[in-house]
Amino acid sequence: MTADVVTTIPEIRRRIEVCRRSGRRIGFVPTMGALHAGHGALIERAVADSDFVVVSIFVNPTQFDRKDDYERYARSFPEDVALCSAMRADLVFAPEASEMYPASLDTSVNVARVSEGLCGQFRPGHFQGVATVVAKLFHIVQPGRSYFGEKDAQQLAVIRRMVADLNMPIEIITVPTVREPDGLALSSRNRGLNPTERASAPALYRSLLAAKHLVENGCTDAGQIRQTAASILGEESIVRLEYLEIVEPDDMTPLDRITGPVRIAIAAWLGSTRLIDNVLCVPQVR
Ligand code: PAF
Repeated sequence: MTADVVTTIPEIRRRIEVCRRSGRRIGFVPTMGALHAGHGALIERAVADSDFVVVSIFVNPTQFDRKDDYERYARSFPEDVALCSAMRADLVFAPEASEMYPASLDTSVNVARVSEGLCGQFRPGHFQGVATVVAKLFHIVQPGRSYFGEKDAQQLAVIRRMVADLNMPIEIITVPTVREPDGLALSSRNRGLNPTERASAPALYRSLLAAKHLVENGCTDAGQIRQTAASILGEESIVRLEYLEIVEPDDMTPLDRITGPVRIAIAAWLGSTRLIDNVLCVPQVR
């Protein structure tokens, strides 16, 4: 069966109202399209949990800090709808930018502390754009549950904080990162890698695994862990490290000393493609 595609807010509201009246549980997977197996895992989980699954496909202009990045962002709408259909999603919501933003916004959602470090530091306004569009989509789709990938760990922390702070009646479900056999985390941005860059890209995960190994074997010095990970990344001359941070997993504040579970997060450039990845590390109790 092909998933229905709806492009306007009045039409999706009508469809959602019918579902709510019949007591169906709505699961929601927000995306920017260019779907891959990582999105497939989100949809699969939503289908298992819900009676009616909505996938949004909307390349949100307000979360791009650079216009050229927005314009270059991969788009593959027919293939995306085919994947949603194959995964048994019920509805694809694919609004134009003019539908979501008919006028400039005077209202936005800023999730202060969690948005500040890591990607927030290098992509000004990014998380405000994300939080605002996700809040708008939540109001439109009114899901009981919404599904996000662990690969975008800071985005997840921002959304969780927004939902808690604004008392949104939505359960946020985290779905583990899906990886290529060589460890590269699936991302729509991987499509921008040329063969040389693609060959070097698994170094991000290799460096994260080395850092995780140190944490889980008793190393508590964040500086030493960062150094080890950075030296592994340094073996690939074309990889330009943007940040490698060890942070508290819920509020994403950087740590110097490790006393409990941490997330190690990395962002790096390969040519004109920026990749991010992260791993959760739980030190063994000795
Ligand atoms: O993760 C994404 O694809 C986007 O940031 C999201 C959550 C769909 C908001 O535009």
